[in-house]
Amino acid sequence: MDAIRTQNLTKKYRLGWRLGKLKALEGLNLTVREGEVYGLLGPNGSGKSTTLKLLLGLIEPTEGEAWLFDVPCHKVESRLHVGFLPENPYFYRFLTGAETLEFYGKLCRLRGAALRRRIDELLELVGLTHARNRRLAGYSKGMLQRIGLAQALIHDPKLLLLDEPTAGVDPIGSRDIRDLILRLKRMGKTVLLSSHLLAQVQEVCDRIGVLHLGKMILEGNVQTLIRDQNRLAITVENLPEPAKATVESVVTQAGGRVVSIEHPQTTLEALFLEAVRKDPRGMHYHD
Ligand SMILES: Nc1ncnc2c1ncn2[C@@H]1O[C@H](COP(=O)(O)OP(=O)(O)O)[C@@H](O)[C@H]1O
Ligand SMILES: [Mg+2]
Repeated sequence: MDAIRTQNLTKKYRLGWRLGKLKALEGLNLTVREGEVYGLLGPNGSGKSTTLKLLLGLIEPTEGEAWLFDVPCHKVESRLHVGFLPENPYFYRFLTGAETLEFYGKLCRLRGAALRRRIDELLELVGLTHARNRRLAGYSKGMLQRIGLAQALIHDPKLLLLDEPTAGVDPIGSRDIRDLILRLKRMGKTVLLSSHLLAQVQEVCDRIGVLHLGKMILEGNVQTLIRDQNRLAITVENLPEPAKATVESVVTQAGGRVVSIEHPQTTLEALFLEAVRKDPRGMHYHD
C-alpha cells in the first residue's frame, strides 16, 4: 500500500472579481511508499504548502484526487494516522514544553500515566528534556520546530507531513532536525517534507520531487540525481607537486581527459559545523 497517492491533483485559487484564478498546483501525480522519506522541493510560491494542505483535506482540489493509505483525503479517517507540522506553527508562548505536549495529548484523548509517559518519551526523542519546564517564549526557533515535531508525533502516526521543518533554523538546529527525521525513518515512519533549501534535503530524503510554478519538473532518487555518472573524482593527500603531471599523463594515456585538478570544496555549512563541534564549550549554544 502507498502512504500517499495523488492523481492529476490540481488547485486553482480564486483571486476575486476580475482577477481570475491562480493555478497553484497543476496535474500532480505523486506516489510516496510506506517507510520512505520524500522531499518536495521548490522555490517560494511553487505549490509545496498547497500540496500538503490538499493532502490534509484543509482545502479542496479543483481537479484530481488524493489518497492517504488508500483512503480519499476528503474523508476524516484519512487523517487518523497523520501528524502535521505547519509552516509557521503557532504555540502558546506561556506554556512550557511539557505543558504544550500535554495540551495536544489531551486533544488526542490521551490521559493520566499514558499521557505522562508519552510526553517524557517525546521530549527525550526531540532532545528537549532539559527544557521541559521552560516556557516556549524562551525557546529558540530550532527548539520550537522540535516541540512542533513532538506535537505532530503525539498520537504515534504512521505518516508525517512537515512543511519547511528547517526554515529559519540555524545550521546546528537544522542538523538536529535532519537527524531526527532519520530516526523517524528508522522507526518505520513515512515522511513527506517540503523545503526550498535543496542542499539540506539530500542527506535525509530517499526521493525528491521539484515543483516549479505548480508543476513537478524533476523527480527521482536522490543518490541517482546527484551522482554524475561520467565523472570520477579522486581525492589524494600529500601528493608532491611534480607528481601531478604524472597523474595527468597516466589519465591521458588511458584515453581519459583531466577536467580539473583542484582542492576539493567543502560546504560552508560543513565548515561551520566542524568548527562548532571542536569548540570546547560544546555544541548546544542555542539551547
Ligand atoms: N489562499 C490563497 N489564495 C490565493 N493564492 C494563494 C493562496 N495560497 C497560496 N496561494 C498562491 O499559490 C501559489 C503557491 O503557494 P504555496 O503552495 O504556498 O507555495 P510554497 O509553499 O511552495 O511556497 C503562490 O503563488 C501563492 O501566492
Ligand atoms: Mg510553503
